[in-house]
Amino acid sequence: MIFRRSSWNSSAVARIGLCAAMLAPLAACSDRIPSIKAPLGLPPVPFPAEDRPTGAKISLGEKLFFDRRLSANGTMSCAMCHVPEQAFTVNELTTAVGIGGASLRRNAPTVLNIGYHPQLFHDGRKQSLEAQAWEPLLASDEMGNQSADQVLDRLRGFADYRGMFEAAFDGKAPNVATVGQALASYQRSLVSGDSRFDRYRYGGEPAALSDTEKIGYLVFLGKGRCAGCHLIGNTAALFSDFQCHNTGIGNQASRQSGQQQPVSVRLAADQTATLTAEDLKRLGVQPVSDLGRFEVTQQDADRWAYKTPMLRNVELTAPYMHDGSLPTLEAVIDYYDQGGSHVQGQSPLVAPIGMTPIEKRGLRAFLSTLTGNPSPARYQRSDK
Ligand code: HEC
Ligand code: HEC
Repeated sequence: MIFRRSSWNSSAVARIGLCAAMLAPLAACSDRIPSIKAPLGLPPVPFPAEDRPTGAKISLGEKLFFDRRLSANGTMSCAMCHVPEQAFTVNELTTAVGIGGASLRRNAPTVLNIGYHPQLFHDGRKQSLEAQAWEPLLASDEMGNQSADQVLDRLRGFADYRGMFEAAFDGKAPNVATVGQALASYQRSLVSGDSRFDRYRYGGEPAALSDTEKIGYLVFLGKGRCAGCHLIGNTAALFSDFQCHNTGIGNQASRQSGQQQPVSVRLAADQTATLTAEDLKRLGVQPVSDLGRFEVTQQDADRWAYKTPMLRNVELTAPYMHDGSLPTLEAVIDYYDQGGSHVQGQSPLVAPIGMTPIEKRGLRAFLSTLTGNPSPARYQRSDK
């Protein structure tokens, strides 16, 4: 799978306000780029003072994001788990699969609008995109590199990168900071708003939502208590409080881990086997445990708590929840309607709702109005 980076220009996410003349080479005009332009319904994208996004950094980050040569054996790029035409997630997998076919324990979240997240990963364990990028690069089951030096040595040897880092970073060569900053800048540029919801709520277009969708919006705000965590503001909507909550999904998953689905297990660098829960038990392998935010804070209250996802483009990012355990939006709505898993420690906001069939249909329809304009589904893959 190779993605043609040039296919982005006409696409989906509202790209940066590049130079007035888009035809000029990016590097030449990068310093004049004020910031990433926020679409209707989204606030300006924050960025650290020491890493102001520029056109040169963004296009370098884009090249890195799609480059399979960044993985230890040349097979995995960031874009293979954050697939552009699947709204930067992977629709076919409940949990991601990394280098050599290893199953990861969590679902790959979308990186659209990731620049707005003050904390990263399902458990919020990283605070900056600059630092986050090195985690998949060095994880043995993701991109499999032994050390940052290994990645940097390889990068320095690639002729097609010659001069790009230096041009983007005032003469600096590839190093841990510049690779992180380029990937961060590119990801900050992936903003997606101006959805039908935004046009209704912030654009003064009452006809942008149908009557059914308006019923769903009311359920989202009121009876369903959804907006208690998936926040909607007066001038913009992030659909997340960026806190971690226990919705009962994590407890449920651990209860069921005795009857796990078959999992693929990495035996050697390029050898995998598919094993059932019984095989694993016989071999003495524990099912993968996931305690959510507790793993970061060791606080009991954080057991099975996960970060509230932004719901923008949610129609395109199935399957859902940190473990991909809910396959459809209908399943998510049923889950909340029944009051989650009724387990100890579950957020009091997740309690039986008692929606009517019309309200459920409305809520489902409302969630589809959060797809950005143009739709991220229009990303194209090509075999360059
Ligand atoms: C093997 C699949 C895989 C690869 C390759 C991969 N990711 Fe991810 N990514 C994931 C998974 C799974 C998570 C969630 C992990 C967690 O929460 O513990 C994630 C999380 C993230 C997040 C945080 C999202 C959020 O909502 O907080 C960012 C940002 C991200 N990845 C960027 C990247 C970048 C940049 C690369 C390449 C350097 C990359 N990923 C490579 C699977 C992958
Ligand atoms: C207590 C806060 C809270 C409330 C209330 C809440 N959510 Fe969530 N929502 C979350 C969290 C946290 C997750 C992620 C859970 C996980 O990863 O296991 C989530 C996940 C989701 C997802 C899956 C998104 C994805 O990308 O995987 C959808 C869809 C969703 N919620 C919709 C709703 C709707 C609709 C309602 C109202 C009926 C609602 N939520 C109420 C906190 C909340």
